Amino acid sequence: MNKRVLVTGGSGYIGSHTCVELSQAGYEPVIVDNLSNSEKTAVEGIEKIIGKKVEFIQADCCDTEVMDQIFSKYDFDSIIHFAAFKAVGESVSKPLDYYRNNIGSLINLLGLMRKHNVKNIVFSSSCTVYGQADKLPVTEQTPRKEATSPYGNTKQMCEDILRNCANAYPEINVIALRYFNPIGAHPSALIGELPRGVPNNLIPFVTQTAAGIRPMLSIFGDDYNTPDGSCIRDYIDVTDLAKAHVCAVNRMVEGRSKANYEIFNVGTGRGVSTLEIVRTFEDVNNLKLNYKITGRREGDIEAVWADTTYANNELGWKAEKSLDETLRSAWRWQQYLDSKK
Ligand code: UD1
Repeated sequence: MNKRVLVTGGSGYIGSHTCVELSQAGYEPVIVDNLSNSEKTAVEGIEKIIGKKVEFIQADCCDTEVMDQIFSKYDFDSIIHFAAFKAVGESVSKPLDYYRNNIGSLINLLGLMRKHNVKNIVFSSSCTVYGQADKLPVTEQTPRKEATSPYGNTKQMCEDILRNCANAYPEINVIALRYFNPIGAHPSALIGELPRGVPNNLIPFVTQTAAGIRPMLSIFGDDYNTPDGSCIRDYIDVTDLAKAHVCAVNRMVEGRSKANYEIFNVGTGRGVSTLEIVRTFEDVNNLKLNYKITGRREGDIEAVWADTTYANNELGWKAEKSLDETLRSAWRWQQYLDSKK
């Protein structure tokens, strides 16, 4: 059987970790990435970990002609589609860029899947589709709330496009994975998150503050209706998350899907507050973080965490890494980056 998997955005944060897991599970990842928010060094990191070369093509998934040639050349069995813009704030000021890139690339890929008879696609969705849910934890049946940013809207729209296509084209199989908050890095510290400029996300800001690159971490609000007043998220180790993609591809390749459009929550099932993250990071890495409480960040939701029963039972996947281990890996990765400067 052909084990070739197209991984769009494969040199990005989640994509690179997934390529490692795919390769170790016997698949052959082929990375297509335009390097708009990632570095070629990630591919070298993947190759060091798996001990062999990985096919990398610098191309834009919105470019139909180039992608058509890539589909002709490689004869993929499955696709994992990571490539997308992901900054919530930026999406508010550049909505057209987000719609063009995130929606355009998916439509392009779906058209090419039909043309080249590629059957399986895993899509990177997000818990952002739930917004502030009325009931926690969220299950896959929890109703989606109206998106609060163009970024969130692209995730909802892409899910809808996939659902409609699965309905119209019974030969294709779709699995949408709704990621919670991916953090940490590969235990080898050879790949990890590579934020450009000032990080938007919590963990890179935490590690850069610990490294002295940022003077102070701001905790966005301690007046939420949560036990310690800071927001609650479901922080999932990026290697655990990567493994969920292998389970999703296996499920489709082995014909175990219950329907040709399926959704799974990919989280730990545990809600952790921002302040708990800071304290745990300090404890496990034996250091002190410079931080202050500031006002709330616009658009932040108070709390969300996953009910992972469905993913555990149906996908046969479960988050395994402890938060301690994950926060240690995040710090190791920051130290590795600093050592390369
Ligand atoms: C959000 C989306 C997620 C999306 C991601 C992309 C939700 C629930 N999640 O994640 O789907 O993929 O953006 O970037 O909509 N924080 C601080 N100080 C900081 C940075 C963050 O206190 O400097 C806090 C935030 O208020 C939040 C938590 O840390 O409570 C996590 O923030 P972040 O890492 O940015 O992720 P989300 O906003 O949860």
